[in-house]
Amino acid sequence: MIYAAIMGFGTIGSGVYEVLDRNREQVAAAAGQPVEVKYVLDLRDFPGTAVEDKVIHDFSVIENDPEVKLVVETMGGLNPSYPFVKACLLAGKHVSTSNKALVAAHGTELLAIARKKGVNFQFEASVGGGIPIIRTLYRCMAGDRVSEITGILNGTTNYILTKMDREGWSFGQALKEAQALGYAEQNPEADVEGYDTCRKIAILTALAAGKEVDYREIPTEGITNICAEDLRYADTLGLALKLVGTSRIQGDKVSVRVAPLLMGKENPLYGVNDVYNAILVKGNMLGTSMYYGSGAGKLPTASAVVADMIEEAQNLDHHVPMGWSGEKLALQTEDTAVYRYFLRIAGKFEELHQMVEHYLGDCQIALLEGLDEFAVLTDAMEKSAFEQALARLNEVLAQAGSRTVQIIHGEA
Ligand code: HSE
Repeated sequence: MIYAAIMGFGTIGSGVYEVLDRNREQVAAAAGQPVEVKYVLDLRDFPGTAVEDKVIHDFSVIENDPEVKLVVETMGGLNPSYPFVKACLLAGKHVSTSNKALVAAHGTELLAIARKKGVNFQFEASVGGGIPIIRTLYRCMAGDRVSEITGILNGTTNYILTKMDREGWSFGQALKEAQALGYAEQNPEADVEGYDTCRKIAILTALAAGKEVDYREIPTEGITNICAEDLRYADTLGLALKLVGTSRIQGDKVSVRVAPLLMGKENPLYGVNDVYNAILVKGNMLGTSMYYGSGAGKLPTASAVVADMIEEAQNLDHHVPMGWSGEKLALQTEDTAVYRYFLRIAGKFEELHQMVEHYLGDCQIALLEGLDEFAVLTDAMEKSAFEQALARLNEVLAQAGSRTVQIIHGEA
């Protein structure tokens, strides 16, 4: 028997308990022995439930119990998860977490402690929910050099964009539904402003590059500026709009960004809808691969946490090499990156389109009935060239009493 403790018995923590219970025999066979939850740490009691007798409110009980070998952190946030996880590792316990905020902010230090203490700090559930992307990067692609990772990494925003597009729901209605389904973060700002995607792409980039990535340096744009008209224009242009995190890795030159991206049908991410996540990974030997599945939700995420617990149970007496070093990765700006650009321009198409194409070059045009505006999609342009052209265009548009009302990056 191997004893475990679950810190935080919310959606994911209670899911971990359920997976361990429902798949008890399979987990025991894979782990080499039965896994028993000894403690559940939470501020609440859970009277009348299966964990009633396991609930504790004092962390030191876990820290000081040598019988507890596996600890699950599903509290979220940094405080007290960071000091608790650190103390568990220092006490020689293995830890698995679903908490990307913790991994992005303190992963380097926690991995170093795990290495030193000969234990494991694992975080498969922190990116892509139930999709096994972390293990894919550190194990399955160990012999490959990753050149690009582009992921739809946030289930809540993918769900919101899908519902706004297909059902015509408002942003607020879709967010409320995502919260009710247990997809959203406690503070949904982390989802809709792109902060959650930012931390996830930072973790994937650090794993691929083997160096620490400071998520605060990643240019991040969420979906709060996206409106129903943008999605309607995208439909007429045959494009889908997704919030993606992208990193391009060419030796020491690495650029990372988070932003909404318009993409065509030939992109494998085009058809990834609802709460699903998908991660496109390009390797110098593997070529292009894509990993698809449930990116949020109780049991998919809990399944990934339990997989970590099993790997830890299989490696109780040593550290499994994974993660990244303390050396910091210098992120590059994207000046030479090439995109197509989608712009909505206020005013009459007949009066303004020649002016727009004079500065931006030949464009695809989209018009929606009843709106005193039009949209254009440029050909592929270098980011710096687009910014210069846009500055000049905005000046002449202002003189004509018009303005740009939306700009969204499109894949080249
Ligand atoms: N709020 C996150 C999402 C949960 O919607 O993807 C999973 O990390």
